[in-house]
Amino acid sequence: MGLLEGKKLLVTGVLTDHSIAFHVARLAQQEGAEVILTSFGRQFRLTQAIAKRLPNPVSVIELDVTSDEDLAALEGRIREHTDHIDGVVHSIGFAPQSVMGGNFLAAPWADVATALEISAFSLKSLAVAAKPLMSSGGSIVGLTFDASFAWPVYDWMGVAKAAFESTSRYLARDLGPEGIRVNLVSAGPIRTTAAKSIPGFEKMEGGWPERAPLGWDQTDPEPTARAVAALLSDWFPATTGEIVHVDGGVHAMGL
Ligand SMILES: NC(=O)c1ccc[n+]([C@@H]2O[C@H](COP(=O)([O-])OP(=O)(O)OC[C@H]3O[C@@H](n4cnc5c(N)ncnc54)[C@H](O)[C@@H]3O)[C@@H](O)[C@H]2O)c1
Repeated sequence: MGLLEGKKLLVTGVLTDHSIAFHVARLAQQEGAEVILTSFGRQFRLTQAIAKRLPNPVSVIELDVTSDEDLAALEGRIREHTDHIDGVVHSIGFAPQSVMGGNFLAAPWADVATALEISAFSLKSLAVAAKPLMSSGGSIVGLTFDASFAWPVYDWMGVAKAAFESTSRYLARDLGPEGIRVNLVSAGPIRTTAAKSIPGFEKMEGGWPERAPLGWDQTDPEPTARAVAALLSDWFPATTGEIVHVDGGVHAMGL
């Protein structure tokens, strides 16, 4: 029996077949889950095309996490396919170029606000929108990049990740009584579209394989996707508000 046999999962964030979410969806299907994807706007058709590369057919529904209309419609759009969901994957991040790449002191608030809304507040928005479909409990899993440190060039996206990590803990507090677990996977650098859009990303990923006791392959999203699948499964029944590091061990090392 697969790790996720019979589970119904909503997976956001599939943009290309490099997306972490693509590999989560692939593994989830291989482990027995039924998957629904979300995408939005001009990316919708791309997601539909990429979804054809998954092992099993999937439906793609519209969700821009900044759209009140999409958030209000989410429950109904999911109910066209299933009467409940057991898990939600938040694999969403965006910040305007002006707030990354070494421009920390000059970044304008309007652009910082965009980063915070899409990359942090959206975890709350998505959780609340999906909650009516999780009346028997479930698991919400998001992706972070360790917000304990000031990294080169990550700048306000790093601040957004700190807010994201805190948001996951408050959601764990408020959704725990309903049997909904909220956890994050803190991944090392992986060369996806989002990562490559960070000006100077090579300064963040540089030296990672050497610093990691287990080594690290920036082209391999599989270890990260496996951890997400594990947190979606029934094998972490008493874990919430947690951040599992999948970074080759870098977070635990000194210089
Ligand atoms: N790649 C890395 O090095 C790395 C490391 C740690 C954490 N993460 C996190 O993993 C998550 C997934 O990113 P990825 O690296 O797979 O890149 P990606 O570019 O493949 O995925 C980012 C996704 O965010 C979605 N998105 C952006 N704005 C949105 C909106 N308004 N509404 C709905 N969706 C929206 C995009 O459609 C895209 O699918 C992000 O939270 C990212 O910060 C990435």
